[in-house]
Amino acid sequence: MNKIIVTGGLGYIGSHTAVELSNTFQVVIVDDLSNSSIDVLDGISKISNRTPIFEKLDLKNKENVGKLFDRHSDAVGLIHFAAYKAVGESVENPLKYYENNLSCLIYLLQEINNLNQSFNFIFSSSCTVYGQAKKLPINEKESIKKAESPYGNTKQISEEILFDYCRVNPKINVISLRYFNPIGAHDSCEIGELPIGVPQNLVPFITQTAAGIHEKVTVFGNDYNTPDGTCIRDYIHVTDLAKAHIVAIENLILKKSKSNYNIYNIGTGNGTSVLEMIKSFIKVTGLELNYIIGPRRKGDVESAYADNSKAMKELNWKAENSIEDAILSAWNWEKKIRSL
Ligand code: UD1
Repeated sequence: MNKIIVTGGLGYIGSHTAVELSNTFQVVIVDDLSNSSIDVLDGISKISNRTPIFEKLDLKNKENVGKLFDRHSDAVGLIHFAAYKAVGESVENPLKYYENNLSCLIYLLQEINNLNQSFNFIFSSSCTVYGQAKKLPINEKESIKKAESPYGNTKQISEEILFDYCRVNPKINVISLRYFNPIGAHDSCEIGELPIGVPQNLVPFITQTAAGIHEKVTVFGNDYNTPDGTCIRDYIHVTDLAKAHIVAIENLILKKSKSNYNIYNIGTGNGTSVLEMIKSFIKVTGLELNYIIGPRRKGDVESAYADNSKAMKELNWKAENSIEDAILSAWNWEKKIRSL
């Protein structure tokens, strides 16, 4: 079995990807546990019937990165999830974000360069790089806007680093996946999203409210230029997103592309408004949900949903789960972790 290193492999998207990878790859999970729990490793092992190799490592330490590649010089690829991702915190503490998100990437690429062999690399990027796109659905040719936050800027800078690196390292093949809005949990309910503190994202806030942790959901603005006035996003089941990484790494291993740096949008292609999400949640769960309309949240874009035709055509990937499947899985997960 080919070996793949997954940094941030105990995080939300990383853990779901580790499960999917385990079917065909030997998985090495690297995580410093700064925003994840070691229990997630048990969840991954239970679902996949296989225990990944686990390396508790801080990738901000260059020596650690060197040692990681000494131990796993047989790896054929790496999927890089490890990064800080709280938008608000990145505004308050930009250097924390620039240091972590950029230095880890640079150290990894330096070590990969030293391998002197062909290597495959997938980078977790985000639709946040587009800001408010001029044209919807958003395709990969859309221009990149000035980032709204240091977090968003680290994604833009990382993509630029990868572009420049690939130009002079033809043996290294890279794909950046620009995720739209991942939601939901694995159908087994063994793994899911574990937000720290009060969740900033819509779906965990909805499920926590339904679980009685918050009194109500505040809809951030209903005066946008959309059919119901609330913002539109492309919510994708995290398992579908995880599967995109498998087809992407396989595509690189099989050298299917002429270029050694490619970017793909990973979304369902459908836009759903905040109010539609709330109504869907009420419908699929049969529960009541308290919500009010509040002011806009600073930095929110009005509408963002993916043109995913490039991923469909070149990676032969498309999302299989409906938004209802995704919402129900998020609720089942919330019930499980709250013992409801
Ligand atoms: C957020 C991040 C973005 C990241 C993306 C993917 C922010 C500002 N942006 O985007 O960088 O790449 O997740 O995970 O955090 N909403 C409410 N009430 C709530 C929470 C959210 O109305 O309590 C609305 C928001 O205004 C937005 C939509 O729900 O219109 C989705 O919000 P969220 O889940 O935070 O995702 P994004 O803002 O798209």
